[in-house]
Amino acid sequence: MKYDFNKTVDRNRTSCIKWDFLEAFFGKSELHPMWVADMDFKIPSEILKPIQERAEHGVFGYTAKSNEFYSAVISWFKKRYDWSIEKEWVVTTPGVVPALNLALQEFTKTGDGIIIQPPVYFPFKDSVELNERKLLNNALILKDGRYEIDWKDLEKKAESAEMLVFCSPHNPVSRVWTTQELERLGDICERHDLLVFSDEIHADIIFTPYKHTPTAKISDALANRTISAFATSKSFNLAGLQLSVNIIPNDGIRKRFKLTLERLHLNMSNIFGIVGTQAAYEHGEKWLDELLPYLWQNYLTVKTYLRENIPEITVIEPEGTYLLWLNCKKLELNDEELAAFFVQKAGLALTNGIMFGPGGDGFMRMNIGCPKQSVIKGLESLANAMTDDSPIVIGPAPANDQVDC
Ligand SMILES: Cc1ncc(COP(=O)(O)O)c(C=O)c1O
Repeated sequence: MKYDFNKTVDRNRTSCIKWDFLEAFFGKSELHPMWVADMDFKIPSEILKPIQERAEHGVFGYTAKSNEFYSAVISWFKKRYDWSIEKEWVVTTPGVVPALNLALQEFTKTGDGIIIQPPVYFPFKDSVELNERKLLNNALILKDGRYEIDWKDLEKKAESAEMLVFCSPHNPVSRVWTTQELERLGDICERHDLLVFSDEIHADIIFTPYKHTPTAKISDALANRTISAFATSKSFNLAGLQLSVNIIPNDGIRKRFKLTLERLHLNMSNIFGIVGTQAAYEHGEKWLDELLPYLWQNYLTVKTYLRENIPEITVIEPEGTYLLWLNCKKLELNDEELAAFFVQKAGLALTNGIMFGPGGDGFMRMNIGCPKQSVIKGLESLANAMTDDSPIVIGPAPANDQVDC
């Protein structure tokens, strides 16, 4: 192993949301944080050095993306997903969620039906509702410990929808969709003429033997109706640099997408987003290839610990992402009690399952993108809480609207 993922980095007092804003979000600061979807690992010098060198230069004027930037993106997509993309298809935005909102605003209108597949990353619901579109929940089905798409319901919802917001790999249920599933999905989208926003931000965090297939790679027809959103933010822990890479093969859709970006004057990117993304795609592969088995070991640590010490809580086996989906239904707590149990009794900051929509009740999402010692610390706190039979105290709702993020 070249990289030391056991090394602890103190993130306190860096204004990072995960560690420094616990009080605002949970009403308590002495919590062990395993929530926000970023990792506690320091990025490798292969990515850090180009950023430092650019910072050392000291002049930070308006900056465009070079040919080398696009080549790095194109090579990564070919190498990691065997997908040949063209430079013209690449459109950057300051994040995936901004790209989703832009697509909703440009390609759908007030009241249009938008399908999402809960339990799913909660900004999908927020984006649909904030834009006054109609939310159509095509809830996933949990069958034999693995989530599946409810095809019959999808077919039905597609009849009155304009767009599908797809999460691949899926946060939080950590499914890596198979080509067969993607083909079936593509067929439904084709027959019902849906635009697809395919959020593939977790595409690089895939566990053996699973393989990520970009939605748009399935067929030219599906590529023609899909906006695919990728980024280095999850894979290389660069979320604060705020740059995502959207792939839009359809000329007409891309033209409108880019025009809207220009209207908002958001077509330029932060210098460090450009440098960091390029460096990650050019030089980050070895780090990522060592990170993935480390994350898998973290998952095994959680699975074994729960089985041996807290059998009331089980974990869905992840196919991708560093986010674990914990089934806490056997605790027989309602969602308010479950949230309070984790915060007040266990001293843990996790993400409440109910936030992810229908099907999220009774679940908690645990982020294992951290050193193993940190995972163990979280598990031990949880085990202690299980033996504490004092009553669960439900505290006042924290005022997280005070956080400027
Ligand atoms: C599925 C998914 N999409 C998007 C994001 C955030 O994307 P961005 O920060 O680029 O807007 C996250 C972050 O957790 C995510 O899990």
